[in-house]
Amino acid sequence: MVTASAPGKVYLFGEHAVVYGEPAVPCAIELRARVTTERREEGMRVHAGDLSLDGFTVEYEGAADGRPDVDVSDSLVDAAMGYINEAIAQAKDAAGVDEAGFDITIESDIPLGAGLGSSAAVAVATIKAATTELGVDLTTADIADRAYQVEKVVQDGEASRADTFCSAMGGAVRVEGEDCRTIEAPDLPFVIGYDGGAGDTGALVAGVRQLREDYDFAADTVSAIGDVVRRGEEALADGDVAELGRLMNFNHGLLEALGVSSRSLDAMVWAARDAGSEGAKLTGAGGGGCIVALDDTAETTTALEYTPGCADAFRAELATEGVRIE
Ligand code: MEV
Repeated sequence: MVTASAPGKVYLFGEHAVVYGEPAVPCAIELRARVTTERREEGMRVHAGDLSLDGFTVEYEGAADGRPDVDVSDSLVDAAMGYINEAIAQAKDAAGVDEAGFDITIESDIPLGAGLGSSAAVAVATIKAATTELGVDLTTADIADRAYQVEKVVQDGEASRADTFCSAMGGAVRVEGEDCRTIEAPDLPFVIGYDGGAGDTGALVAGVRQLREDYDFAADTVSAIGDVVRRGEEALADGDVAELGRLMNFNHGLLEALGVSSRSLDAMVWAARDAGSEGAKLTGAGGGGCIVALDDTAETTTALEYTPGCADAFRAELATEGVRIE
């Protein structure tokens, strides 16, 4: 029996645009998904609990293509099971085995589909646990690459390497197309606001793709996000938190223009700004889920707690360690 864990992440800058080759800077945070794998004769049994911070609990025993009895949308559950199936397929491929059954237990601090990288963390931790169980020692870069293949299959070919690379490596990373590297980052005062909901990553990515095809100015908006990220990298290197905040505000405006924000995300972003945070933006695919703000005081967390539509507000630390055996 092996347990591996991997962290979630927030996007300081660059989600969506990263799918089109622009750079992005995600940062791993200390919310982890823990996956335990144990060999069995054949087939796969998944037991998943606490897949949300304070929402539902998945209690699921059965074949991975069965239906767990949970109070969340089918598409979220399908997506979660899809990531696990594909991650196990990647682990078997790495070990060169066709027949290997697994009991899989997933415990996660990361709400599903909320922009904090739950699927990437589950894919990364599953590959690490299952390959270790099968006696294969993959490099962290190999795990990141295989987890990216998982996301690509589940998201119909539309995924960047950003989420999976960040979860595998930990810390702050920079991803531009195939070029993935870890970067230095100061300890940033992340505050997260969570609306209790989730977005459909595949549908949101497809929506941006359609806008880019329909309007040149939507393609320009995606390029403008790339320009914001490049300025953001300079601010990060200088440790200039005020400039990082201004650029996060700009990044949120551009994402809003691309149609991936929501009323509750905008309300939380404005609550954070009004409370004096350095800046705030949605994080991840959008449509619902989380915002990230920078504030080293308690003001933003308090303001978010009183914001209608905000279900939870909390501080998140940068996770310096990526995937690991527990
Ligand atoms: C989702 O967490 C981030 C997106 O940029 C999609 C991706 O990079 O694969 C929206």
